[in-house]
Amino acid sequence: MNQDTTAIESHSSESRVFEPSQEFVEKARIRSAEEYQKLYRESLDSPDTFWKRETAELVFRTPFSKLHEWKLPHAKWFIGATLNVSESCLDRHLGTARADKAAIIWESEPGESRTLSYAELHRQVVAMSAALRSLGVGKGDRVAIYMGMVPEVVVGMLACARIGAPHTVVFGGFAAESLRDRINDCGAKVVLTQDGALRRGGLVPLKATVDKATLDTPTVEKVVVFRRLGQAQAPIEMKAGRDVDWNELVDSMKGQAEAGAPEIVDAEHPLFILYTSGSTGKPKGVMHTSAGYLAGAHLTSKYVFDLQDKDVYWCTADVGWVTGHSYIVYGPLSNGATCVLYEGAPNAPDWGRFWQLIEKHKVTVLYTAPTAIRAFIRQGTELPEKYDLSSLRLLGSVGEPINPEASVWYYENIGKKRCPVVDTWWQTETGSILLTTLPGAHRMKPGATGLPFFGVVPEVVDQSGARVAPGGGGFLVLKRPWPSMLRTIWGDDERFQRQYYSEIENVYFTGDGAREDSDGYFHVVGRIDDVLNVAGHRIGTAEIESALVSHPAVAEAAAVGRPDDLKGQALVVFVTLKPPHVASEEMKKKLGEHVAQEIGKFARPDVVRFAESLPKTRSGKIMRRLLKDIASGQKTQGDVSTLEDLGVLAKLASDE
Ligand code: WT7
Repeated sequence: MNQDTTAIESHSSESRVFEPSQEFVEKARIRSAEEYQKLYRESLDSPDTFWKRETAELVFRTPFSKLHEWKLPHAKWFIGATLNVSESCLDRHLGTARADKAAIIWESEPGESRTLSYAELHRQVVAMSAALRSLGVGKGDRVAIYMGMVPEVVVGMLACARIGAPHTVVFGGFAAESLRDRINDCGAKVVLTQDGALRRGGLVPLKATVDKATLDTPTVEKVVVFRRLGQAQAPIEMKAGRDVDWNELVDSMKGQAEAGAPEIVDAEHPLFILYTSGSTGKPKGVMHTSAGYLAGAHLTSKYVFDLQDKDVYWCTADVGWVTGHSYIVYGPLSNGATCVLYEGAPNAPDWGRFWQLIEKHKVTVLYTAPTAIRAFIRQGTELPEKYDLSSLRLLGSVGEPINPEASVWYYENIGKKRCPVVDTWWQTETGSILLTTLPGAHRMKPGATGLPFFGVVPEVVDQSGARVAPGGGGFLVLKRPWPSMLRTIWGDDERFQRQYYSEIENVYFTGDGAREDSDGYFHVVGRIDDVLNVAGHRIGTAEIESALVSHPAVAEAAAVGRPDDLKGQALVVFVTLKPPHVASEEMKKKLGEHVAQEIGKFARPDVVRFAESLPKTRSGKIMRRLLKDIASGQKTQGDVSTLEDLGVLAKLASDE
């Protein structure tokens, strides 16, 4: 852990503020800072009253007898309650006008559209639940999902929830090795996949990757394959006795309501496991449970996105990340919202694709990532101006710090100065948004995320855990438990304790650096541990390093981040080679390819540099700080095929 808080620089001298328009405020769910304050105070002072009222529309079969228990570091929420999460997302809408309302408006990359009403989504989930049970999946069994952005991925997730089988969705950009490790770590019994997905016109061969991954996954009994493209476009091999056709299976279960009945589980029954990068080479299986997670995702969707019945809401994240879980599936559906689900890339066929989709589906709320916004800025304003964006009323940002310039560009050119921008801070571990502005209640300060959501008590502290006064940089910690917090790391509770509860006593350690300003707004600057955020993807430096050293030519490797205008951070790796291997352009390509093979293309290093040796402290620790400086220095573009003598730099640094 690099505990150097001097790295937490003040973000910028941005001083502009934007008030929500009168028109927005009038219709908003929460209309003033006072109203927010009142609810926030209530959430802390009378949490029972607050959570009882605010979860009233969720379906509990048995109400909770005690709100929560906090035996550090283990929390339980809604103790004694029983429920099935899928009932809150689907069944509860059925007897109402929402039954025929669109739950999902799907758009494929080539431009096909499909709309599923709540009633239709429910029918499919019931059939899939029965189907999974017929394959022998029961309460507590794990199901891995490796799919693209199609309605069936939502069906698969909700069907797992319905039968009490925790799902682990693996982002379709991960390579076979990463998929294999995740399947093995949680011991998944069944894998749900599809023949292939489309991305920038190309085929992502998901089923073939599953075939490769499952060469070495002893727990997998069945693979269910959704034919998104068909044999001509995406040829696949079905393994006899193991592989099952999704549609055939589901069709055979249609109308079997009994077999698709919800499994009523305890509030703390695991809902899903989602792997994320940490500071070691092994990804962490973040475990979320049922009632608390649902409550967090539900309430934040409702208030942060100000969801109203007529909204057409679009979160552009992939369902393989936590943003997709909370803000494509569980949050919006438990609110009965209409969600756009888009299969493809933002630049397919051109960089106007998002704006065209907003015009076509009359999107009202857009939730996307700073890295996408910065890419749009590079394309100019011509494309967004070509489309009618007047349906928009609210914009959101997530995943990394949004620089004030990007935030203001988004506000002016996409929201046309009519739409508040909410910058939402949270993590895979937190399950739902914890820091944000509420769009009708708060002014937006570009570069700052905002205030704590209900029930959340953040603080900026120094290494000893003492509060840092507003204006000063420090570590962001959370002082009270919140419903959607992770409960443990799957199979490694010891790591869970060490990771989040050992740095500073009695609080949850986020791993982020931040400062609070004089208005109580939090400015989150980024990770202070060995985790990078490259184009909104969380990547552990240790994971990259272990992928690199698994290549026969590599002796040692160090991965660091370098500020990047587009991606937020770029990935720079320093490598020493084993003789007789020599540094060359070709070797550079080989190593990049190797990382893509081992982890996934999104983790391919931006820069590979070869060194004679890596700079180390006397005790043998790699001097990352020095490497970071070298990586972001001016003299980086030299001939990469030449070995750099970093030892000299190390000497200089230690002489300072
Ligand atoms: C890390 C969590 C949140 C879901 C997607 C990413 C960074 C996230 C913000 C923001 C500044 C942010 C933090 C955090 N981060 N949102 N609005 N402002 N930083 O989830 O992969 O678990 O990454 O993303 O560094 O710790 P994740």
